[in-house]
Amino acid sequence: MIYKSFGIFSIPPKISYWSDYFSGKAEEFAISLNDAVFFICMSELNVLKEQYSVCDKCSELTSHRSQVVFGSRHMKECPIMIIGEAPGKKEDEIGEPFVGKSGEILNQLLDEIGLNRGDVFITNTILCRPPENRNPKQDELKNCRNRLDKTVEMINPKVIITLGNFSTQYILDTKEGITKLRGKIYSKNGRKVLPMPHPAVLLYNGMSESILNGFREDFKVLKGVLEEKTMGDY
Ligand code: URA
Repeated sequence: MIYKSFGIFSIPPKISYWSDYFSGKAEEFAISLNDAVFFICMSELNVLKEQYSVCDKCSELTSHRSQVVFGSRHMKECPIMIIGEAPGKKEDEIGEPFVGKSGEILNQLLDEIGLNRGDVFITNTILCRPPENRNPKQDELKNCRNRLDKTVEMINPKVIITLGNFSTQYILDTKEGITKLRGKIYSKNGRKVLPMPHPAVLLYNGMSESILNGFREDFKVLKGVLEEKTMGDY
């Protein structure tokens, strides 16, 4: 399938190249071909988003949600994918993951290592806000698993960050707690997974400096992974 290999296409689409398709210059044509494949791959992600925007597999979630929160709005290939638990109240209103207070903390931590929201694709284990922010149920997770797996395949990240106990235990299929798992790299289906606590713990603990420093250590590990140069990397 074409989207499986789209991770190697790192040149952003440039509409102006369309005229070069017919210019006869091989190099420009090669760039344009990359762009064309990029367009095709990203539209696969948009198709998936469209499909799930009307999903009604989970009746309780369907009747409570304002909208399906698919993921980051930019919808582009990213070296980092972040998987949270489920949309909260603000995410349900706005239609984007991590746009509330936890999102602000995430933005700050990314900024401290020179990254921003455009460098990451964020989604959740499920796409709809659970009533009263309860944990996702097993059947809801199951209904949303195919979507999550396909999204990972299309975003093709170099590393997946799982935020919090729930997302981490679900993705790594373990019962081990986040305190033990955090800050180390695990392998799942051939991909690197880096678990971190959910940023909300900082909110529950008055933005404690020692907890914040723990997150900074985790983000240092992330930076290290991104700087690793191995065959086939970006
Ligand atoms: N917490 C999550 O786990 N996901 C969001 O999108 C927002 C808050």
